[in-house]
Amino acid sequence: MKKIIVIPGDGIGKEVTASAVEVLKKIDAKFNLGLEFEERDAGGTAYDKFGEPLPAETLDACKAADAVLFGAVGGKQWDNLPVDKRPEKALFGLRKGLGLYGNLRPVKVYDALIDGSPLKPELVSGSDLLIVRELVGGIYFGPRREAEIVDGVERAYDTEIYSVPEIERIVKLGFDSARKRRKKLTSVDKANVLASSRLWRRVVNDMAKNYPDVEVNHLYVDNAAMQLAVNPKQFDVIVTGNMFGDILSDEASVIGGSIGLMPSASIGELTSFYEPIHGSAPDIAGKNIANPMGTILSAAMLLRYSLNAENAAQAIEAAVDKTLADGYRTADIYQDGFKKIGTKEATEIICARL
Ligand code: IPM
Ligand code: MG
Repeated sequence: MKKIIVIPGDGIGKEVTASAVEVLKKIDAKFNLGLEFEERDAGGTAYDKFGEPLPAETLDACKAADAVLFGAVGGKQWDNLPVDKRPEKALFGLRKGLGLYGNLRPVKVYDALIDGSPLKPELVSGSDLLIVRELVGGIYFGPRREAEIVDGVERAYDTEIYSVPEIERIVKLGFDSARKRRKKLTSVDKANVLASSRLWRRVVNDMAKNYPDVEVNHLYVDNAAMQLAVNPKQFDVIVTGNMFGDILSDEASVIGGSIGLMPSASIGELTSFYEPIHGSAPDIAGKNIANPMGTILSAAMLLRYSLNAENAAQAIEAAVDKTLADGYRTADIYQDGFKKIGTKEATEIICARL
C-alpha cells in the first residue's frame, strides 16, 4: 500500500484535489499501484476547525506518508489573523517540517495553447524548462524583525542566508535533474551584489567538477528575468534560491500559457509534496470553473518522483495533452471556438482519455 495524504486546503483547493484524486484512482485501477488516500486539514479551513492553520496531527500524518497531495491555502476571511495563524503559515510549516528543500517547477508549452500566450508563438514554441527552487532557506527563513524602532525611526529587516550544505543539496538536485534532461544547468544569483550569492556561485562551480557532462552557466537574476521573456528556449534546468525561484517561476508560468496548468513537486527529506502553483482563488471557489489540470499534473509528478511509476505519470500527462488537443478548455484558457468545460467535466474527460 502507498499512503497518500490529501490536503485540499482552502478555496479551489478542495475542487482541484478532488479531481486529481479521481484521476489517481482511475490510474491505480489500470496500473495496480496500491494507492490509499487519507484527507487532512490545513490552512484557513484548519484554523476554523482547530484554531491552528497546521494541526500537529496533519504534519505527523504527512511525515508518515509516501507522498502528500496539496491544493491551496488562503482567503480574505483569514487575512487579518496574526501572522502565525494565517493560512500561509501552514505552507511554511509543512515545507520546514517535512524538509521540502527542493521545489521542482517544470514549464512546458502546450502546442494547443500557444495562440493564447501573451508571448510570440515562435518565441515560446518548443520551450521546455525546469526551475529547481530552494524552498526551506534563504530570505524566507532567515532572521527577521517586524517593525522595530531605532533612534526614533521605524524599520524592519529580513536576511538572506545560505550555508554550504544547504546550497550543496539543492545544487545537486539541479545537476541531477539536468543530467536526466538536456544536460544544461543555469544557476541564477545576484553575485555582483550579495555575499550569499557569491558563496552560492562558488558551490556551483565546485560541484560542476563532478558533472563534466553537464554544461553550466551563471546568470544574474535581473538578466535571467529578461532572458526568460526574450529567449526561453535557451533554458533547460534553472537552479536558484528561494526568493529568486519564487519570482522567476511565476514569470516562467506565462511561457506555458496558464498558471492553472503548472504543477510542482517539492522533494523532501521525510516525504515529498505535490501542489499546483496557482493559489486558492477564493473568488471562483465552489463554482465548478477552476482548472484542475495543474493539480492533475502534480499528481503525475507524484507518481514519477515518489512512486517511481513513470508509465502511469506519462499516461496522465498524455491524457491532459489529448484533452487540450481535442479542443476542451476551462475558463482560464478559454478562447472563442473551443469547447468550454468546468472542473468536473475536465476531470471526466481526462479520465476517459487515460
Ligand atoms: C509559492 C507561493 C508562496 C511562496 C506564497 C503563497 C507564500 O508564492 O509557492 O510560490 O512565496 O513561496
Ligand atoms: Mg510564488
